[in-house]
Amino acid sequence: MKHKILVTGGTGYIGSHTIVDLIEHDYAVVCVDNGSNSDTSPLKTIKELTGVEVPYYNFDLCNLQSGETIFQDHPDISGIIHFAALKAVGESVEKPLLYYKNNLESLINTLTLALKYHVKGFIFSSSCTVYGDATTVPVDEETPWQAAASPYGRTKQIGENIVEDTLRNTEMKGVLLRYFNPAGAHPSGKMGESSVNPPQNLVPVITETAIGKRQQMTVYGTDYPTRDGSCIRDYIHVMDLARAHTLALQYIFEGHQKISCEVFNVGIGNGLSVLEIIEAFESETGVRFDYVKGDRRPGDVVSIYSDYSKAKKVLGWEPRYSVGDIMSTAWLWEKNRSKVK
Ligand code: NAD
Ligand code: WQD
Repeated sequence: MKHKILVTGGTGYIGSHTIVDLIEHDYAVVCVDNGSNSDTSPLKTIKELTGVEVPYYNFDLCNLQSGETIFQDHPDISGIIHFAALKAVGESVEKPLLYYKNNLESLINTLTLALKYHVKGFIFSSSCTVYGDATTVPVDEETPWQAAASPYGRTKQIGENIVEDTLRNTEMKGVLLRYFNPAGAHPSGKMGESSVNPPQNLVPVITETAIGKRQQMTVYGTDYPTRDGSCIRDYIHVMDLARAHTLALQYIFEGHQKISCEVFNVGIGNGLSVLEIIEAFESETGVRFDYVKGDRRPGDVVSIYSDYSKAKKVLGWEPRYSVGDIMSTAWLWEKNRSKVK
């Protein structure tokens, strides 16, 4: 029998791409999202790409009773991937209580339902942000956490602790996936990042500038102690990231996971600077755009990239997409959604 997976935050960027990968790997999916940062258009695209109409609940997971309805309709849910969260770092500094309330209450409610309805596997969207300003790179899962740079980052640190504490001494198994910098779009160009709130991450800022939605982009800081002075990150294609979830579920359902909670870095281990990313975009697409070199952005760490050897060894996960693929798919998506040929 197919496993049925509840995907929270499923109309969001990473959730929608993960649903496609889950369906392609023969999972049944139920989706819940409150629409705070997405609309329902990805559900249509999922149907177009996979032929499957995913049951959808427009609920806020901060409301436990709403969540109950989903499990009453689908008592056979055996896995949960919990993407639902607010993710804007700057906004979390301005509205910390909104972030603590939304990200932690929705997590606590989802875990409460998971335990009540005997869910077998729980996957939590964590982030490289838990490492804070790491003293050495690359970081592996044992690298000690530094102070989080924002309330958002702290919700991920606390979130990991909540999942670990909750799963101790239960039958449910948990996987914490620490994403590095997800970017790119589905290779069809039909699905990509389409958040309700204006994106602030580097790759969508580049594509929006290149297409003319933004006049100019600013490189935040070119005086860092790196090879070209700009910050270094580990950009991972969203479909590679999606597959890590499918593999993590397989790992749990096949009974390979022995401890209650496992943690994996999911990055490609290749640290690239902001200027190198701009160059990769320009050489991949042949499109040039205006950027200026500006001041540092408060809260940015100088350099972080992953050691993903644990995910490779334990889950059999390896990246399949290059940085060039990230740029070409992100650009195709930007052109399609902006209706430019
Ligand atoms: P996203 O904003 O596109 O998706 C999150 C979805 O959750 C949105 O559709 C939003 O409407 C929904 N949501 C938020 N609060 C909710 C609630 N209370 N109830 C129901 N739905 C709710 O973000 P994303 O980039 O797809 O990120 C998914 C997860 O991955 C998040 O937990 C995020 O913190 C984490 N993450 C993202 C990145 C990144 O750079 N995109 C990096 C590391 C970790
Ligand atoms: C990447 C680099 C910017 C925009 C954030 C969160 C992190 C995680 C991933 C969720 C940085 C530079 C950006 C621009 C720029 N999210 N930049 N001009 O900050 O590494 O990580 O998303 O967990 O927690 O903090 O990603 O894409 O915002 O920035 O120069 O207009 O691009 O300064 O060096 P970041 P990002």
